[in-house]
Amino acid sequence: MPTERAAGPQSAPMAPAGPLPAPAGRPAPEERPRPEPKARRPRTPAVQPDETDESCARMTTTTTTAITHIANLVTNDPSLGDGTPLGLIQDAAVVIDGDRIVWTGESSKAPATDNAVDAGGRAVIPGFVDSHSHLVFAGDRTAEFNARMSGRPYSAGGIRTTVAATRSASDDELSANVARYAAEALRQGTTTFETKSGYGLTVEDEARALRIAARHTDEVTFLGAHIVSPEHADDPAGYVDLVTGPMLDACAPHARWIDVFCERGAFDEDQARTVLTAGLARGLHPRIHANQLGHGPGVRLAVELDAASADHCTHLDDADLDALGQGDTVATLLPGAEFSTRAAWPDARRILGAGATVALSTDCNPGSSFTSSMPFCIALAVRDMGMTPDEAVWSATAGGAAALRRTDIGRITPGARADLVILDAPSHVHLAYRPGVPLAGAVWRRGERVV
Ligand code: NIG
Ligand code: FE
Repeated sequence: MPTERAAGPQSAPMAPAGPLPAPAGRPAPEERPRPEPKARRPRTPAVQPDETDESCARMTTTTTTAITHIANLVTNDPSLGDGTPLGLIQDAAVVIDGDRIVWTGESSKAPATDNAVDAGGRAVIPGFVDSHSHLVFAGDRTAEFNARMSGRPYSAGGIRTTVAATRSASDDELSANVARYAAEALRQGTTTFETKSGYGLTVEDEARALRIAARHTDEVTFLGAHIVSPEHADDPAGYVDLVTGPMLDACAPHARWIDVFCERGAFDEDQARTVLTAGLARGLHPRIHANQLGHGPGVRLAVELDAASADHCTHLDDADLDALGQGDTVATLLPGAEFSTRAAWPDARRILGAGATVALSTDCNPGSSFTSSMPFCIALAVRDMGMTPDEAVWSATAGGAAALRRTDIGRITPGARADLVILDAPSHVHLAYRPGVPLAGAVWRRGERVV
């Protein structure tokens, strides 16, 4: 069995990959996942490339931990290891100091640390970055899913069912739902997630959704323009005025991003541009639900506005691919949505071939994709969207970070946040090779073991 001990990391033998023990005495994942770093005893810095006065200047008050005997370490730094985009290092170690990674390399060369964890020949990957979810909702849509599996097509209109349930729910109920799905995702290795409003569609309900979302994550998106609210069914222009006026005033302080569902049955190109430019003027950066149900202007609009991400990208023409290949907008693929709506798969090979950066995300929501599982999305992307396991794992980690314009997550390199997953498997490829199997043996977030 793998061991945790308070000694140098260099001696423990490799063990067969069985389940890692649960973290001792740790509380259940908290509703608000951003505890302040704990004050700890002073120590000599563990990472000392040279014994100079300079190293003394780096004295910290944190504890260092080495995770050793990692059969395959995915760093997502191509300058490391095998030189591929995954920067794979074999028989590797990772050193954590406080909430940061401070060293990665071969296990035999790991520096002395306060604590050591023997990974026992397992693989380690960066924590998943789920850059697209809709977790602030109440109720579910089992009946709608059931009908779909009997042949009824998906349409944006189902969103109204969730809007009604969400408006009727209390703040506590909504917050408990977000906590529940965030904890579910964490158990599967997701250490960062974005989430959106979009099931309120009034000034008060949208602002409350964002306030609740912000208790659980820093990556909060205002999606007042999810569909035209039922109250404005006959006045879509009036609803866009509301979204870009009083609703934006109430919501902007609680969000980092602004999103719009640019699709037939939701918002057209002009409306989407109006919403996103109004958000930009208030300091919210755009991301777009684009080209999900049919071909449309969303992807090109995303690139035009330098949106961080164009999400779905299921129906693309050559102009869309050229735009994605040339711009900085990430193409975020959401295979859970195609799975749960029995829709055609996006062609990931074509998108990658165009030179676009691809992220993979769950789109977790009660209508089109009720999964919180990034490993499930990886397996689908490999099996049905033409991605290689390496590409899919990169897209679910570094790709998600790129879709959130973050460089501190999605990689295991010095300076990055210590968010990582020890898999109950010898290789990251098992995430696709063993679909449906819970492989997240241990999860570390901000330097703390949380699963
Ligand atoms: O990303 N497409 C728009 N929004 C969600 C679906 C929301 C719902 O059906 O409730 C999506 O698939
Ligand atoms: Fe979505």
